[in-house]
Amino acid sequence: MAAARHVAIIMDGNGRWAAARGLPRSAGHRAGVEALRRTVRAAGDLGIEVLTVYAFSSENWSRPKAEVSDLLGLFRLFVDRDLKKLHENGVRVRMIGNRDTLSDDLLDLIRKAEMLTVDNRRLHLNIAFNYGSRDEIARVMRDLALEAAAGNLDASEISEDLISSRLDTAGDPPLDLLIRTGGDTRLSNFLMWQLSYAELLFVETHWPDFGLDDLASAISEFSGRERRYGGLGAAETATA
Ligand code: FPP
Repeated sequence: MAAARHVAIIMDGNGRWAAARGLPRSAGHRAGVEALRRTVRAAGDLGIEVLTVYAFSSENWSRPKAEVSDLLGLFRLFVDRDLKKLHENGVRVRMIGNRDTLSDDLLDLIRKAEMLTVDNRRLHLNIAFNYGSRDEIARVMRDLALEAAAGNLDASEISEDLISSRLDTAGDPPLDLLIRTGGDTRLSNFLMWQLSYAELLFVETHWPDFGLDDLASAISEFSGRERRYGGLGAAETATA
């Protein structure tokens, strides 16, 4: 079985981790950032090429105002303060998600991080922020429709490859493995196009407790699974 090149994570369970310790949810998110730092290091060490993490969904705006501003602050700090270290460690940073409604100063920070790290090759980190999979697909569809209406695109040329090449994850290898921590078994509007042939792994561990060993065992579980992409497995092919 081939190695996992592209791994995505739904980092869930910060609030429950904090509640179990009698701490405010904000402490859970802070511990979640530590877990993200650990996991980025671990992903590089394990030879993963692309790590895509769900930091803030387009639905998360409906959380209480204080929590939203806490998460925005943590994202800002991560992109700003961790940037030098990420760059030194060969991490390329890219934000995926809807940029239309983000403030100018946040967009400047994101652009700065993306430009500084664009040539880094050790690990590509996609941070999904203000991200929703349906929104991502709708943005692609709107753009293609506008191009067709302007006469710059023949609608018969719209293919799976063309759509993939317009998604926020354009250029990345196909998604191999999705890990969701925190025990829930939902996709929560994350990477639904990209997940078509990915393996899904749901673990009980709350995100702040996640680390190198958890990622290593997820990768090893992935390596043990047989991916058939709609075809036959090795055993069936041998006896066919
Ligand atoms: C889900 O936990 C987690 C989030 C909504 C945000 C994920 C954010 C981080 C890991 C830290 C921030 C990192 C960056 C870069 C912004 P939850 O609050 O839904 O937990 P619960 O399900 O236990 O309530």
